[in-house]
Amino acid sequence: MSILSCNRDEGHCAEMSMVCLTDFEEYAKLHLSKTTWDYYAAGADECCTRDDNLQAYKRIRLRPRILRDVSVSDTRTTVLGMEISFPVGIAPTAFHCMAWHEGELATARATEAVNTCYITSTYSTCSVEEICAAAPNGYRWFQLYLYRDRKVSEQIVHRVEALGYKAVVLTVDVPYTGKRRDDIRNKFKLPPHLKLKNFDEMFQQQAGSHEEYGTPANNLDPSISWKDVRWLQSLTSLPIIIKGILTKEDAELAVEHGVQGIIVSNHGGRQLDGGPATIDCLPEIVDTVQGRVEVYMDGGIRLGSDVLKAIALGARCVFVGRPAIWGLAYKGEEGVREVLQILHDEFRLSMALSGCRNVAEINRNLIHYSKL
Ligand code: LAC
Repeated sequence: MSILSCNRDEGHCAEMSMVCLTDFEEYAKLHLSKTTWDYYAAGADECCTRDDNLQAYKRIRLRPRILRDVSVSDTRTTVLGMEISFPVGIAPTAFHCMAWHEGELATARATEAVNTCYITSTYSTCSVEEICAAAPNGYRWFQLYLYRDRKVSEQIVHRVEALGYKAVVLTVDVPYTGKRRDDIRNKFKLPPHLKLKNFDEMFQQQAGSHEEYGTPANNLDPSISWKDVRWLQSLTSLPIIIKGILTKEDAELAVEHGVQGIIVSNHGGRQLDGGPATIDCLPEIVDTVQGRVEVYMDGGIRLGSDVLKAIALGARCVFVGRPAIWGLAYKGEEGVREVLQILHDEFRLSMALSGCRNVAEINRNLIHYSKL
């Protein structure tokens, strides 16, 4: 686990160890093209929400318990009844072939190897069929947008259901794309040699207007509302998870509409700038839901102790987006595995150092304070 770090001043290259997730971030920043790096790093407007997703974890302190025989710690948990090796999965992010030539195939193989959940993005640069063939035993959910042309959404839902995807994750925070300044300056577009492989040529052309930020020019439907959740339920028997909830009011509505899960998410701070950090929203949502559905979260997880804090505050599982991209940029499948392995090791260590022997023992007693 090392990268070559060249110090031009001293005229030599030294091995740099990959010890933590920010090492992968640094590598990715050095090796991806500026346009690609900017696209993944982007937050909306002034990036306050993107940055607060990380900072919020620093405001939370833990109350470790001692002398509890932590010689064995079990990090396994379940999501929607399926066992995963630890409560960290891969959040949906677009265009993996921009970060690594094998794209989503590498991500799928890594998550299969680690035995965790991979939420495949609608905007993948390998098709869902190719992804399933690359990692036939992987546990996957599919992230869905609702298009103005509902037939497009309907067809992809039927395809992923037939392929063995285990849930549909409906993204609800993109009625319009957030204003990401660097993408506008860079005139960001999917490179011409890549395609949105899940869709045919006609759709590609329409979806190509993804770069028209803040306008209704792309074909995602801004009229999406709760009645569309009912429509989706009528299409599929798969569990439906709503991604992008930040308030107890919407969490209650989601439960009332019979969904099976909620992902507390602000889209990595890429949509509404000025919204809260996801870890700060989690407690009110968990308290409202009262165990009626599983609550997951994404945004700002960079350490095993971040995972511990999120689980202590009631998340069933967390998802990481950008760190998987950094892993891909580093070494494809192996890089994503290393990122997940580091998070796993750090999570196990922070569990043990706070006296938790298994995930069920992680609860709010672990939280010392949350100072806003
Ligand atoms: C984004 C869209 C693709 O955040 O979800 O870039």
